[in-house]
Amino acid sequence: MNCYRDKVVLITGASSGIGRAAALRLAGYGARLGLASRSQAELGKLCGEIEGQGSHALVLPTDVTEAEQVRRAVDQTIEAYGKLDILICSAGLSLRAYFEDTTLETLERVMRVNFFGTLYATHFALPHVRKTKGSLVAMSSLTGKRGIPSYALYGASKFAITGLYEALRIELAKDGVHVGVVSPAFVDTPLRTNVLGPDGQPWPEPPAPPFRIWPVEKCVDRLVRLIARRQREALLPAFSGPLLLLDRILGSRLGDRLLSKRFPHDNSKPPS
Ligand SMILES: NC(=O)c1ccc[n+]([C@@H]2O[C@H](COP(=O)([O-])OP(=O)(O)OC[C@H]3O[C@@H](n4cnc5c(N)ncnc54)[C@H](OP(=O)(O)O)[C@@H]3O)[C@@H](O)[C@H]2O)c1
Repeated sequence: MNCYRDKVVLITGASSGIGRAAALRLAGYGARLGLASRSQAELGKLCGEIEGQGSHALVLPTDVTEAEQVRRAVDQTIEAYGKLDILICSAGLSLRAYFEDTTLETLERVMRVNFFGTLYATHFALPHVRKTKGSLVAMSSLTGKRGIPSYALYGASKFAITGLYEALRIELAKDGVHVGVVSPAFVDTPLRTNVLGPDGQPWPEPPAPPFRIWPVEKCVDRLVRLIARRQREALLPAFSGPLLLLDRILGSRLGDRLLSKRFPHDNSKPPS
């Protein structure tokens, strides 16, 4: 059975990468979409594609760091469709830099987009998702499961999301609301080419990821399965679950050594 038919889904970060691919997939399953991000032009193109498939979408230009704009995106979704079943918080920025090199402004910016953007969307969507006994879903990262050099602040923003959603899952269980987090490794999207350096500017040539980069459709597979099965967590790749456990059992020393080699400080010098 297709559990997505006629569901109303609001996606932040819908203009690109995982959010965009998820919007197209869910529209193909018969969901009606609210598409939120800053880039109206990109959202307009995506909306055209979705409507070309015979589905419905709303363009909701939104900066997720502005609570009022996020409130408006949720309100417009309710006005247009009358309900909200699923929130997917995918808006995010990446920062690859050692903490000590990074300007305070850059650290705060990443936290505002990644964490507060998720917090605002969740806050305003919750009353509506509670009514439909729907799903709240956030994009975290493996950096939100395990500290990784060069991703101290990015990881902190994802740990914060994981902590928020872990607690929400328990708080909302009595209301029948599903709360889930997707934590992927590197995924093939524009995020990595736009990754910020320590001065808050994108790296001219971002350091190559030292691990496999996963196709975006694989990440969307995990996301749609997490929602359909109302799972609490999806990891990409799945084998990172046993690896994280092994890392804990071994006291993290081996993992620390491997990660220091793969993410050395040299690679995190300010972009020239
Ligand atoms: N790709 C990866 O390797 C990877 C791995 C783990 C986790 N993730 C997480 O997955 C999520 C999606 O990433 P992605 O790979 O799809 O990245 P992406 O292709 O760069 O897309 C990021 C999205 O976030 C939106 N965004 C950025 N700042 C925003 C703001 N202030 N207000 C509203 N929207 C904003 C962008 O839209 P506008 O520019 O139009 O605003 C864009 O739609 C992120 O949370 C990311 O941290 C990604």
